[in-house]
Amino acid sequence: MQKITIAPSFLSANFADLKNEIKRCKEANIEWIHYDVMDYDFVPNLTFGSKVLKDIVNSSDFKIDIHFMVKVKTKRFEDFFSEYIKCKPTMMTMHVESMSKKEINMFYNICKTNNIMFSLAVSPKTNIKVLNKWIDKLENILIMSVEPGFGGQSFIPEVLEKVKHLAELKKTNGYTYSIEIDGGINDETSKKAIDAGVEMIVAGSYLFESKNFLEKVESLKHD
Ligand code: DX5
Ligand code: ZN
Repeated sequence: MQKITIAPSFLSANFADLKNEIKRCKEANIEWIHYDVMDYDFVPNLTFGSKVLKDIVNSSDFKIDIHFMVKVKTKRFEDFFSEYIKCKPTMMTMHVESMSKKEINMFYNICKTNNIMFSLAVSPKTNIKVLNKWIDKLENILIMSVEPGFGGQSFIPEVLEKVKHLAELKKTNGYTYSIEIDGGINDETSKKAIDAGVEMIVAGSYLFESKNFLEKVESLKHD
């Protein structure tokens, strides 16, 4: 079976008590955390910028997966990422729906110049064919299992077909991307996602709204 990574999404963390949220992740042996950046343009919600991430990074040693749900102006593209890059994320994910082909190439170059994993996300209604042009360069593909924008929504099971297809493509063509899923994850939906071929599981409300964080993390692994 594939190695499973659980990445808690800090969108559902208690921001008045981030120190404790970091502690809960450490106690559960979390290696990766998922950081959702939203702009009230690409999605109808606004979250945090690079300062909060910088503070998290300065008091922990997690690998950082930044999930950008933003529309960035072409001429400000390089600039936009600069403060996040200083936080040394391991991976940066942008939505294919938010960029032109030219911008996707710019994003790829920014990732590679800075030694950051290049990752693209697809929303539930987006056909994964849009990834074809970058499939051999991608180091991760994020399949959204809810419409991006909010935590606490219900899992859309139809997206599992995309996961199965990507897992199959990977096997037959030797592609090296990992497959990540985000949205509506709990112990039941994580099982379905793992069976379909997912390697990285993002969970927000299921973990942070629970008193027993460690137990909930374990319940997502199905090993
Ligand atoms: C939603 C975000 C998710 C969110 C998931 O657009 O990308 O990362 O935090 O939250 P849950 O796990 O509660 O669906
Ligand atoms: Zn996310």
